[in-house]
Amino acid sequence: MSPTLTLALSKGRILDDTLPLLAAAGIEPAEDIKKSRKLVFETNLPGVRLLILRATDVPTYVELGAADLGVSGKDVLMEQGSDGIYEPLDLKIASCRLMTAGLKGVAQPQGRRRVATKFVKLAKRWYAEQGIQVDLIKLYGGMELAPLMGLADEIVDIVDTGNTLVANGLEPREFIADISSRLIVNKASMKMKYQSIQPLLDRLREAVEQRA
Ligand code: ADP
Ligand code: PRP
Ligand code: MG
Repeated sequence: MSPTLTLALSKGRILDDTLPLLAAAGIEPAEDIKKSRKLVFETNLPGVRLLILRATDVPTYVELGAADLGVSGKDVLMEQGSDGIYEPLDLKIASCRLMTAGLKGVAQPQGRRRVATKFVKLAKRWYAEQGIQVDLIKLYGGMELAPLMGLADEIVDIVDTGNTLVANGLEPREFIADISSRLIVNKASMKMKYQSIQPLLDRLREAVEQRA
């Protein structure tokens, strides 16, 4: 008998893109995830089950082995910086950019910059690399409001269409990184369950290539 494989999915935007990708790879949840309050779902593949988690919790489940595999945004992986997991496949979904942004037409202050972001560790690293001194302010969403209300000089946030920046009188400044969601794998699972993981990886890789 092949071992159980647990795949942790990020809910929210990533889930919307993940379900069609899984379907293209021949992996279908046994019931409608969107209509259920359950957090664990069996699939059409025997022994393969899905967990529905907050995006920021997915790397934790995979690193600690509570899930064998996961789907996680590169921004979350960069912020959490866990080296206990493999990242074998770029799923090319939930694509966006990580950027700095500030009020349109407003110059940066001469001294330290106040930067509001959800990605404090990542931002701290990036500004240090640029040689820019910053005071970081941790927020949990709606970063675009911070410069508008005088809470911060600049933000580090996700930009996709740019509509949220424009709608709030901001302009993009520096590009930090291209972001998309990645398949992540627990290191021990990769060794112990390779026979089951490899075909799943192949199916997903093929589905990603077909959609490119
Ligand atoms: P959260 O509540 O953490 O913001 P989301 O569902 O909005 O959750 O975002 C989850 C992930 O989706 C992010 O970590 C990022 O990888 C990606 N993402 C976020 N915003 C966008 C966007 N506007 N366009 C494309 N991908 C995005
Ligand atoms: C995300 C991100 C930006 C916006 C970018 O926010 O934090 O605010 O999308 O997308 P755009 O460039 O296409 O406008 P989200 O809607 O997820 O809200 P949040 O702040 O609650 O995460
Ligand atoms: Mg969001």
